[in-house]
Parts: sequence; structure tokens; C-alpha cells
Amino acid sequence: MSGIEVSSRFFDPILSKSAAQYEFEAVKALKAIANHSCVGSEWTGWYGWPEREGIALQAEIKAFQESCKVPYDTIVVVGIGGSYLGTKAISDLYLHSFAIALRGAGKATGLAEIVYLGQHLSEAGMLETLDYLDQRQPLVVVVSKSGTTTEPGVAFRVVKTYLEERFGKDETRSRIIAITDEKTGALRQLATAEKYKTFDVPGDVGGRFSVLTAVGLVPLTMSGIDCAALLRGADGLFRSLKDVSATHPVIQYATFRMAAFAAGKRIEILAFNEPKVAALAEWWKQLYGESEGKGGAGLFPASVCYTTDLHSLGQYVQDGARTMIETFLTIKTPMPTVSAPTRRLTVPRSAKGDPDDQLGYLEGRAVHEINEAAMTGTKMAHRDGGVPCLEIVIESLSPAHLGELLAFFEVACGVSGALLGVNPYDQPGVEAYKTNLFELLGKPR
Ligand code: PA5
Repeated sequence: MSGIEVSSRFFDPILSKSAAQYEFEAVKALKAIANHSCVGSEWTGWYGWPEREGIALQAEIKAFQESCKVPYDTIVVVGIGGSYLGTKAISDLYLHSFAIALRGAGKATGLAEIVYLGQHLSEAGMLETLDYLDQRQPLVVVVSKSGTTTEPGVAFRVVKTYLEERFGKDETRSRIIAITDEKTGALRQLATAEKYKTFDVPGDVGGRFSVLTAVGLVPLTMSGIDCAALLRGADGLFRSLKDVSATHPVIQYATFRMAAFAAGKRIEILAFNEPKVAALAEWWKQLYGESEGKGGAGLFPASVCYTTDLHSLGQYVQDGARTMIETFLTIKTPMPTVSAPTRRLTVPRSAKGDPDDQLGYLEGRAVHEINEAAMTGTKMAHRDGGVPCLEIVIESLSPAHLGELLAFFEVACGVSGALLGVNPYDQPGVEAYKTNLFELLGKPR
């Protein structure tokens, strides 16, 4: 059984009851994904990937990292959508928010920082990143499965030109790793012509399901993050599905969501109380939004960081249009800081004679305890205000638990898409803007 728990104690009891009617279909859908016979099965290579290929690939990437002679302290990931969101989801958890300043003060965390390009078309964003790279030793990891996406294509040209001007053509070659389709696409051709180090994006894994392939493993391993543990955690989740039943958390999550959609809910808010989880929520949004938002179906995935957003969006969630459910990500063991994982922070005791700030009742208590109490109070308030609240409970944000969570969300998304009757693995809607963009900029046909 998986270590993840899905709790419905703050959910609407009527929805909980109606979720049961989808359990049979959900188990069937899961089995169809597992044996690659579902709709869109040609894109289900991510299912069971760690055991099949991921663990061996990770060892290969690790060996490459250990033999890498290029001096680098900053990894520039050039990619958009599934080609960067998973990497950012993971690295933001493990890189200290002030890593650069700390390194300057001799308190390095041992991990190379990761910055991002190619996920927008902002001149300011690109120019400021180049300014920053001037102070750093960059290693560029360009990721594009198709190899033809405009945003990373433009950004890669910019950063490649920058590297060639700064380091010369020869050294630039050793500072670039390309991750793309094994055979096709402009990036593959360019990488072959320039003799870049390359890794393949598997043909049967779509962008938003690719975090545990070379797409995520290469930049994360080059940064020093423990990807073997991530894969072990994900592998554990896939193994737990071998004799799946309706009580499995994957089935529970998918059926609760389906019951909510069938009852007229249109938004799912992922709520978390650890700011470092923000990028993980962005990854989750892409996974569910791009997989399910088709043919008028799907819950719109949104996210909130509490308690921060209780002072902005909290009013709407409590009292606005009743079209949403809320899913709380609860992390049992906090990770206050990556630089000292066991260090805890309690509310300091006031000294004798200090003016009264009315916080005496909190003295000596862990900030995490206050954070958790705020979450429990929020779940109660939102449930009472008419927002059904689910909870996804995980033990910690360690790489192994995180790997399990990533796989959990992927599988639940596949099942949930099947219940909605959509193909979760395509994205026809994304083409509409691209067609207009190419037309407007006069791309040759
Ligand atoms: O999930 C997907 O397939 C997309 O979001 C892609 O990841 C995104 O469009 C980037 O595509 P590519 O990797 O081909 O540049």
C-alpha cells in the first residue's frame, strides 16, 4: 500500500458517497493504463518507468555528472511546460532560497543552483538572466521533446550566442546538454551538428508526464539532487498499484474529483502551507489542466499558498461562488530548511519587561504547530462555508516521499481523465495559439 493518504474528513458527505459509484470504472481505467490499452496508450510510457528504465538511466546520468570536467555553478534549464515545470517543482524544494548569498559567506548547500529560460518571451527576463550569468559559471540544459517549440527555441539561440561570445565555440559545446526526441526535430539536428551531449525524451512519454525521465533527471542530477531516491519513491507507488483496489489513494482521489465535477464543481484549488511547494503546484496545474481541460470537461486547477493567500484569496474561497473544491497537501514532518533539516523554530520567549505583544500563549511553540493549526482551522471554515475539502497527506518532502507523490498525481490524473472521458495525453488546444503565432510572424510553411 502507498504511504500517501487521501482523507475526506472535511469533504462533503454527499459527494463522498457519490464518489463510490465511480470506483469500479476507476479501477478498470487504472488497469488499462497499467497494461497500456487505454485511450492514448501510446503515451503511457511513464507508467512503471522507474523500474523499466528510469533507475538504470539515473545511474548513467550520475556517472556522466561525476565525470563532467566543466566547471559550473549554475544550471540554465531552457524549456517550457513539461520541459521545465517538473525540474522546478523539485529543485525549488531542495535549493536554499538564499543559496548564493550563503555560498558567498562560505555556507554552501552543495547543490548547483538552477535558473530558467525559454518559459516566456520576455526581453527583460532574458536580458536580466544573461546579466546574472555574467557572474556565474553556466551549464545549459536545453529541453524540448518536439525540438521545435518557439519559446525555448528563441531563448536557446540567445543563450547559445551568449556562451559562444563568452567562452568560444569549443568550450560552449561542453557547456550544453540537449534533451530531445531520439531522432526528430530541429533541436536533435542542431545537437548532432554541434556535437552536444544529448539524452533522449522517450517517444511514449508526453511532456507533463516526463519529470522522472531525462527531462528532470539530467538537470536535477547535475545540480546534485538525490534522484535515485526520487525514483525509488515513485517505483514504490507503481508497485503499490499491482493489486489495486478501490481503497487505494489514487482511486480515492480520482473518484472524489469526478464526483465533484459531476455535481457541478468547476475549480479545484490545491492548497499548501509551505511556500517552497509553489512550483510543485505549478507542475500539478499543468498536469491536470492540460490533461483534462478538453471538450468542455475538467476541473480548472488553481493553487493557493496559505496562510499568505488567506489574506487575499481567502475571502473568495470562504464566501464567493460555490463552484470549487479544495485539496490540501499536508506534509506531516516539516522541512524547515534544507541547510539544516532537523533545525526547528519556536516562538521566542519574551524577556522580562518587554512590552506585551499578546503572543504570550504561543511562546515556545513550534512555528510548524501554528502553521498546522491554521490549516485545520481553514479546512473547518471552508467546509462550513460550502467548499468540500480533501486532504492528501504525505510523510515528508524527502526525495523518496516526493517521488511517490509525483507518481501518485500522474496515475490519478490518468484515471481521472479516463473517468471524464477525455484523452489525458494529448493537448490539441495548445495548437490554436501556435497557429496564430506562426501566421502573425510569417513562419514559412
Ligand atoms: O505536456 C506537454 O506535452 C507540453 O506542455 C510540452 O511539455 C510543452 O509544450 C513543451 O513542448 P516541447 O518539449 O516539445 O518543447
